[in-house]
Parts: sequence; C-alpha cells; structure tokens
Amino acid sequence: MNTTLQMPSTLGIPAEDAIIKQTINGEIDDLIASLPDPQGLTSEQRRGIIARYSAVLEGNFIYWMTATLLSVKSEDAKPILIDNLHEEVRDSHPDMLRRFSIAAHAFPTDSDALMVHDDLTKVRLFLGRLSGVQSLATMAFFEGFIQRFMAYLADLASAEGSAEMEYTDVHGICDIAHTDGLYTALSSEMMVSPLDPEKDLYEGVYLLRNLVERIVFNKVQTRAA
Ligand SMILES: [Fe+2]
Repeated sequence: MNTTLQMPSTLGIPAEDAIIKQTINGEIDDLIASLPDPQGLTSEQRRGIIARYSAVLEGNFIYWMTATLLSVKSEDAKPILIDNLHEEVRDSHPDMLRRFSIAAHAFPTDSDALMVHDDLTKVRLFLGRLSGVQSLATMAFFEGFIQRFMAYLADLASAEGSAEMEYTDVHGICDIAHTDGLYTALSSEMMVSPLDPEKDLYEGVYLLRNLVERIVFNKVQTRAA
C-alpha cells in the first residue's frame, strides 16, 4: 500500500495531471461499459475470459511493474513502484491468481495463452523500451482498470461455481492506493524526465487496452493504437 508516501506538492503540473487522469479514466470507463453480462455468456465464454486474463496476468504483471521501475529516472517515483512490487511478491499475487483460475475451472490452456500472444508481445516490447512516463501512464491505466474489473471477474468465477475470491477481493481494494501512487509517480517523472513531445503519452495505454479487449472479447480490435 502506498498511502503513507507523501510527495512534495510542487511536483507535476496540476492541469496536465488532471487531463491525463481524465483521459485514462475515460479509457477505463469505456472498457468497463463494454463488458458483456456474465449471465448472457456461455460457460465456455466465461471460462475463456478468466483463462486469458490469468494467462496474461500471472506471469506478466510483476514483469511489467519491474520494467516500469527500470524505466523511471525520478527518485520519488521509484519507492512507489518498489512498494507495489514488494506487495506482489510478499503476498504472492501470482499464486492468488492461479488459485482463483483453478477454482473456477479456468486454468489457461496452451490455446488460451496463444490467443493473447500477439497483443501480449506488443505490450512486452513496448515496456522493454523503458520509457518512464509512457510506462507509468500504462501501469496507471492498468491498475485503475483492474480495480474496477475485479467485481466482474468475481462474477464470472461465481457463475462457474467458484467461491475462491481472495484474488478479486484483494485487488478491488489495494489497487485504489496503487493507482493513486502511480499517478503521483507519473507527475514526478514528468518533471524529472519529460516525454519527447513527438511521442504519444498514451501509446502503451492503447496497447494494453487492446490486450484487455482481446482477453474479454477474444477478437482483433480495430481501434488505433
Ligand atoms: Fe497484484
């Protein structure tokens, strides 16, 4: 949790910060609004969403957060990311997710993993460019999204007969603090190592949005990245 971290009030440009947060929240709102009703899905469709989510997140979230840590120059941003990684490792969130998917009879198969392969690779390679501001925007989008996605994921698992909800319970709560921390880190990084104006701040956000759409809908998206 990052609630004890205090950042200097002079960091960031408030108006720009607010616009970025609004833009990222708008992407999250659109994604959440597009989610299909779990009861309107077949059991196989519900299983597929949990399995693809698990195929992406179990082995990659810590990797993505580590890539973001390696990318930042701001000394104020680093402890926020390290704190997040500590929690992931100490409480073994990958183990929590594996238990969640197994209990829902949705442990990913090779086919599930291959369905997300192309979009996952794009996100991996993007974060591998180690662009601090872009990486932080991407992870702020993701933390904000999963915090709101957890109730939906829990509904899918429940409809598949599972009562194992530690993963969704934990992430619906702790990611509120994580999201705020990432926006604070983003403000700090923008001051210390601003993005080249010719680059798109939201490039990684769009790539990750496409990956989430692949997880949920399992189809190629046509919106521009
Ligand atoms: Fe986690």
